[in-house]
Amino acid sequence: MEGHLSIQLTVNGRAVAGEVEPRTLLAHYLRDALGLTGTHVGCDTSQCGACTVLIDGLPVKSCTVLAVQADGSAITTVEGLASGGHAHAVQRAFQERHGLQCGFCTPGVLMLSSWFIQQYPTADDRQIREALDGIICRCTGYENIVQSIARAQEIQRENQAPLAGEAREGVSS
Ligand code: FES
Ligand code: FES
Repeated sequence: MEGHLSIQLTVNGRAVAGEVEPRTLLAHYLRDALGLTGTHVGCDTSQCGACTVLIDGLPVKSCTVLAVQADGSAITTVEGLASGGHAHAVQRAFQERHGLQCGFCTPGVLMLSSWFIQQYPTADDRQIREALDGIICRCTGYENIVQSIARAQEIQRENQAPLAGEAREGVSS
């Protein structure tokens, strides 16, 4: 199409090619062209963080990025967090600790948290609160969000702990 630009991305492990207007925001491309409406747009002015996705493994507010700027990148949205039919540690933790109320900010919080617990697996409450600085939860349920991220750290450690048999093998070898 005239005035459109071609882009190629990998989105949630799937190769995607499309034509976009130069002004199209990544958040809108994900939602409108790819139907990945789990990425929420709460403000469009880079304040709220509801639109956070991972671009090449890093959390980015997708309303601050043009789709053409993401050309060639690997994007993970909230739809791509679970794998093999298993919920991600942050999804399990938010369910266990009631880390959401209306759920509008939750996709962005989950994506940020999935990166955060990888980078800072032993972060304390203060560090978790600092990490949430770019996220606005209009329900103001931050207490449970912080507890959920701390719980996600635990789940991640449990998932990474060697099974009893493997541990014994390690000791004897
Ligand atoms: S919609 Fe992107 S920061 Fe609010
Ligand atoms: S749970 Fe409602 S905006 Fe965060």
